[in-house]
Amino acid sequence: MPASARGSPPPAEALAVGAGAPPEPALTVHLARTGRTLQVQPDQTLLQAVRSVGVDVPYVCLEGKCGACEVGVLGGTPEHRDPVYANTSRLPRDRMKLCVSRSLTPRLTLDL
Ligand code: FES
Repeated sequence: MPASARGSPPPAEALAVGAGAPPEPALTVHLARTGRTLQVQPDQTLLQAVRSVGVDVPYVCLEGKCGACEVGVLGGTPEHRDPVYANTSRLPRDRMKLCVSRSLTPRLTLDL
């Protein structure tokens, strides 16, 4: 098992939005089980933002392929950018991979 999957903090550069990509809009994420609300900055992934407040979401590939970082979505509409969901015709609204996906709505509520 890679060190990242055991919960050690990822290097910030490993989780950051790709260099040269257009800026992402800021996003508000509410974590329903922990009761926390946080802002995802334009240069952060959701995974990076959630882990930065101490919520230990696992990860392995950071490419949307393995599913380790997939979490439930309780509110808002995820924008799937992973290679699995992005190529399906029936996109799930209740699941998303935090390492690569974003949001079509300015606010998401996650089952975390
Ligand atoms: S870490 Fe593999 S899908 Fe997100």
